[in-house]
Amino acid sequence: MSTTSERTTVEASPVYPAGSRVNERGHLEIGGCDVVDVAAEFGTPAYIYAEDDIRARASAYLEAFRSRTDDFEVLYASKAAPITGIYRLCAEAGLSVDVASGGELYMALRAGFDPEQIYLHGNNKTETELRYATDSGVGHVIVDSFGEIERLDSMLDRQQDVLIRVTPGILPTTHSYVQTGGLDSKFGFGLEDGLAERAIAEVRASHNLRLVGLHAHIGSQIFELEPYVSAIEALAGLTGPDWECRILNVGGGLGIAYTSADEPPSIDDYVDVKIRGVKRVFDPVPRVLIEPGRSLVGNAGVTAYEIGTVKEIPNVRTYLSVNGGMSDNLRPMLYGSRYEAIVANRAGEVSDTLATVAGMHCESGDILITDAMLAAPAVGDILVTPATGAYGYSMANNYNGVPRPAVVFCRDGDARVVVRRETWDDLVARDVE
Ligand SMILES: Cc1ncc(COP(=O)(O)O)c(C=O)c1O
Repeated sequence: MSTTSERTTVEASPVYPAGSRVNERGHLEIGGCDVVDVAAEFGTPAYIYAEDDIRARASAYLEAFRSRTDDFEVLYASKAAPITGIYRLCAEAGLSVDVASGGELYMALRAGFDPEQIYLHGNNKTETELRYATDSGVGHVIVDSFGEIERLDSMLDRQQDVLIRVTPGILPTTHSYVQTGGLDSKFGFGLEDGLAERAIAEVRASHNLRLVGLHAHIGSQIFELEPYVSAIEALAGLTGPDWECRILNVGGGLGIAYTSADEPPSIDDYVDVKIRGVKRVFDPVPRVLIEPGRSLVGNAGVTAYEIGTVKEIPNVRTYLSVNGGMSDNLRPMLYGSRYEAIVANRAGEVSDTLATVAGMHCESGDILITDAMLAAPAVGDILVTPATGAYGYSMANNYNGVPRPAVVFCRDGDARVVVRRETWDDLVARDVE
């Protein structure tokens, strides 16, 4: 094992939830809670969130809007972490919500969202999901295909407000799997090919759909700001003298810091660019909606694992195996995403040991971090990967019959489970004998 020294800088790092620190015991502290104690009490792996960090980011979004316009909505894109506790927290903070399935809709309603504040997305909404949404009084459906326009119109016996999802032909710099605004996309209606214009005409000619606006989401984990402006400009070309775009949903997408080297734009700059873009090209200026997911919850959460095996291969590398992996964090395997890690029970010590953090699954590709620098990691240590609050829990699975982790909220030194750990019984709970 090696060599280069890295001193941990939890307090200064944008990767950890705000307020994180190394406490007097030399342990990592999140939301005022000692992570080593949280792991001992609730087990590992566990998704641990600093509740107040999510609140602070929700406020930052609302404030950024309030100082620039009075007609807006901030939607929590709940695919990032569809957890009842987070839906509640966002509802209490005054956010609206983006749901992308009947299941997310169910959770949002159960968590207390006013149906009027719910926006239903999806490129293949089933008739059951559409009916559930309309029966529940969901405020807006974002229509995504010609088939859906026809289906939704024919099932209604009253007016339903809809937005049209447009793919404006913009490809920001991010992983191709999360570019969603190009012409060659399964989502929405293209501009270049004239389908968006045709969709507008079809909705306007329908009996029960009321066209109130447009939607575009060009992708996720984006650090540039210019592509949003280009997308907004492209959408403006769709408005005409005969219909007014009253609601413009300009999507989510703001990237976050996964490692200390990442420098995403601030929430304020991101909102500023979007609002200025809209004000410049839309007349009259519509209500502006955004739907951030990752940037609301990503850095608010960490994952705590226990190191169970250390395998040193002379002249090759050292593998640390933890009790999770691609079942609780698919992103490294899906997108090649890079993470950092810290030994929570030695958080104040110098990270001078090079090791590769592996999961416990039956694939060689089940690697959470290649070449992490850690403080003398050993069996029994609590290893924490920060920035796992978004698209970790939501993409979790039971590969190798592994129960999904618990979700723990920490605030002012109190830790509480908001989603219990799955059990082996849960793995067979749906069996029909
Ligand atoms: C339609 C839509 N809106 C919002 C989001 C949230 O994006 P992000 O988590 O990057 O903010 C997504 C995620 O890909 C999306 O598909």
